[in-house]
Amino acid sequence: MNDFLEIQKSNLTDALVEHGFATTGRLLDDEQCQLLIAGYETAEYRNHIKMARYNFGRGEYKYFSYPLPPLVQDLRMRLYDRLVPAARIWAERLNMNNHYFPANHIDFLKTCHDGGQMRPTPLILKYGPEDYNCLHQDLYGALYFPFQAVILLSEPEVDFSGGEFIITETRPRMQSRAHVIPLKKGEAAIFAVNYRPRKTVKGYSRTSLRHGVSKVRTGNRYTLGIILHDAK
Ligand SMILES: [Fe+2]
Repeated sequence: MNDFLEIQKSNLTDALVEHGFATTGRLLDDEQCQLLIAGYETAEYRNHIKMARYNFGRGEYKYFSYPLPPLVQDLRMRLYDRLVPAARIWAERLNMNNHYFPANHIDFLKTCHDGGQMRPTPLILKYGPEDYNCLHQDLYGALYFPFQAVILLSEPEVDFSGGEFIITETRPRMQSRAHVIPLKKGEAAIFAVNYRPRKTVKGYSRTSLRHGVSKVRTGNRYTLGIILHDAK
């Protein structure tokens, strides 16, 4: 794993606070991506979801069990460390009452677990031809961390085509806006779980963000999702 999260620390915080999403550059190398893809078929997971069954789209995903694989555990803790400064700024601007983000992830998870959110949320998602993911937000209980990450494990235009990562923003009484986020293999998009603050004359209001994946045209597209809060 490279040190890009270290290098990008200040820029990442600025980009997230301002826009609600950012890309990181490469975090996982080819071998690490392949390890996670291979594990999709062989490792043990706590749950396997087929999206069509819940009208989430078409495709499937699997939630890791605790203890997480070391690679996923390390990435989750490092992401938390890097995202805490932006999360604290947002907590104030979004009036996230009863949310406190301690300096390290272990302490944050303790607050999740104390509130009954005990189940791990990192997951691997697999999309084949014609698969897609409807626009959604990933909330798993009352307590949440305002940013999450998705890391592309497959090579665009080689392993798959189509399957763009999409974020939409909806402001009250205004039309929605869409962003297509180009991702390289091994790179993460970091984005708002549900809201981002938007400056107004009176302070800050909330803009609602949703994310999803456009239809995969060919091949298989795998991603690793890292959500920082645990689930009820
Ligand atoms: Fe999601």
